[in-house]
Amino acid sequence: MQEYTISFDDKEYKARKGQTIAEALMENGITTFRRGVDGSPHGVYCAMGACFQCRVVLNGKPNVRACSTLVKPGDAVQTQRDAECGVE
Ligand code: FES
Repeated sequence: MQEYTISFDDKEYKARKGQTIAEALMENGITTFRRGVDGSPHGVYCAMGACFQCRVVLNGKPNVRACSTLVKPGDAVQTQRDAECGVE
């Protein structure tokens, strides 16, 4: 299986072709993808694109659902901090 390198909060991790961002992050032990406006941790909940709990900043674009987005080589994923993204 083809292996990719991605980053999460500026640290590099391995991912595999065909994985979602959520799968790749969780496989690397990362479960908090987003911080709510109160700083509370959020990650995967429904895992099927319905709840929007797993939103991340992907290559500078906020509000990307990690559970329904496939990894691409070199993806730069960052924790979404809702207070900084204009989310209320
Ligand atoms: S976990 Fe529900 S949309 Fe991603």
